[in-house]
Amino acid sequence: MNNSKNLTLDPQDWEAMRELGHQMIDDLIDYWKGIREEKIWRPIPKEIKERLDTPIPEDGLDPQAVYEDFKKTIFPYNKGNVHPRFFAWIQGTGTPMGTFADLLASGMNPNTTIGEHSAMYVDRQVVNWCKELMGFPSDASGILVSGGSMANITALTVARNAFGEGKIREKGLLGNAEQLVLYCSTETHACIKKAAEILGIGSEFVRNIPVNEAFEMRSDLLKVQIEEDLKSGLSPFAIVGTAGTVNTGAIDPLDDLSEIARSYGLWFHVDGAYGALAKLDPVYSDRLKAIEEADSLAFDLHKWLYVPYEVGCTLIRDAKKHRDAFAYTPNYLLQESRGLSGGLDSINHYGFELSRGFKALKIWMSIKEHGREKYAQMIAQNNRQAEYLTQLVLENPYLELMAPTSMSITCFRMSPPNFTEEQIRDLNREILVRLQEEGIASPSSTILNGKFTLRVANVNQRTRFEDMDLLVKEILRIGFEIQKIPGQMAK
Ligand SMILES: Cc1ncc(COP(=O)(O)O)c(C=O)c1O
Repeated sequence: MNNSKNLTLDPQDWEAMRELGHQMIDDLIDYWKGIREEKIWRPIPKEIKERLDTPIPEDGLDPQAVYEDFKKTIFPYNKGNVHPRFFAWIQGTGTPMGTFADLLASGMNPNTTIGEHSAMYVDRQVVNWCKELMGFPSDASGILVSGGSMANITALTVARNAFGEGKIREKGLLGNAEQLVLYCSTETHACIKKAAEILGIGSEFVRNIPVNEAFEMRSDLLKVQIEEDLKSGLSPFAIVGTAGTVNTGAIDPLDDLSEIARSYGLWFHVDGAYGALAKLDPVYSDRLKAIEEADSLAFDLHKWLYVPYEVGCTLIRDAKKHRDAFAYTPNYLLQESRGLSGGLDSINHYGFELSRGFKALKIWMSIKEHGREKYAQMIAQNNRQAEYLTQLVLENPYLELMAPTSMSITCFRMSPPNFTEEQIRDLNREILVRLQEEGIASPSSTILNGKFTLRVANVNQRTRFEDMDLLVKEILRIGFEIQKIPGQMAK
C-alpha cells in the first residue's frame, strides 16, 4: 500500500499547530482583558466586506495565514456583546470558561444524541440541573436546543401532539377536525406566532390578549376570549405566559394563567427565554414561582447564564408526553443493552434534531466553576443595575421613562420640552446610532404604545454600575449636540 496516497486534514506540522492554538488563546485572553477600553462596535469598511464576498478558494493556505486573515477581516468587527456596555436586544456576554468548554467540546466532537459515552451523561446532568434551577419535578424531561425559539417550538409541539386523543402525529391536524387556538399576549415574542404557523395552527388562531399599563397580560380578557372561542366551536389548547417579555421584561400573571389553564384543561407553557432565570433573584422569585406549575418551560442559557451561543432548554412536566411527541426508532438507530450503542435513551426521542453538538459541556463547566449562588448574585446585580439606571432617568428632566422597569430592561428616551413626538423619535434614533458609531454603548430600540424608545436590556456579566452613569451622560451629551446642529436628526 502506498502511504503517500493517504490524505488527511490533520496538520502537517503538529508543533506549529500547537503554537497557533496557544496564540489564539493568548489573543482571546488579551481581547477579554482589554475589552472595556475598546470601542463597543466599529463599522465594517467596504474593502473588508469585499474580502468577505469572494469565490470559494480552490487551494488551501497555511493555517497561520488563515488565522491572520481572521484577525484582519473578522475579529475587529465583532458584534460587541462581549463588551460591558452592550445592552442591545437581549444577548448574553459569554465567559472565558464557557468559551474554552466549547473548544473542548468541539475537540472531542461527540455527536450528542445517542450511545454510551460521557457527553450523554453530561447532557443528562445539565438537564437535571435545569430542572432543579426551575423547580421542575425530578421525573420531568428536558432537552437542550439552540435557543429560546427552538425551545418554545419544541414545547408547543408536545402541547399540540398531546391534545385530545393524542393522535395529531399520525392523523395530522385535519384528522383532528378541530381548530386549535393558542393564547398569549400582545407582548409575546414573535417566535410563538412563528411556531404556531409551523405547527399548522395558523397565526389567525393565535390570540394576542391585550396587556395592562405594565405590559402584563390581562387575565380577565383571556377568560373572555377563551369563552368566546368555545362558543364559536373552536378548541382552545394552550396558554403561553411570558416570564420577562422581550420589550420591557414584564411578567405575565403566571398564577392566574396557570389556574385558568387548569380550569379549562389547557396546556400551560411559560416562555422564560429571557426571564426564567430571574427566579434566582429573591426580588423576583415569588412572581416567578408559578413557573413550577407549568406543563412546559422554555428558557435560554446563552442569555442569563452568560454561556456562549447557542443554547436554550425546554422542560416538560410529563416526560411520557414529551417522548410520545418525538420518539421514532428507525432501523439504523437501534439501541443495545451493551457497547457503544447502549446507554441512555436517545436524545432524539425528545426533539426534532438528530445530530447535536456537545453544548452541555459549557453549561456543566460554567456551573461547576461558579456555582448556583454566584449566578443568583450576577442576575440580581443586572436587575439592580436596571433599577439604578431607572433612578438616573427619573431624576433627569430631559429623560422620560417609557415603561415600568421589570427585571433588567429599562426603556427610556431623551425628551426635551416642546418637542413633538416625531422630533423625539428622530432625536432618539440619532442618539442610538451615534452611541453605537462612536463605540460608546449599544442599547437597542423598540416602540411602546406607538412611541419610539431606547431599550437597555442587561444580561451582561461585565457591566458595572458606573457604566449606567456613563450611558446617561453620553446620551445627554449626544442629544444636546444634535439639537445644536439643525438637520442632524435621523430621517
Ligand atoms: C421572551 C423571549 N422569547 C423568545 C426569545 C427567542 O430566543 P432566542 O433568540 O434564543 O431564539 C427571546 C429572545 O430574546 C425572548 O426574549
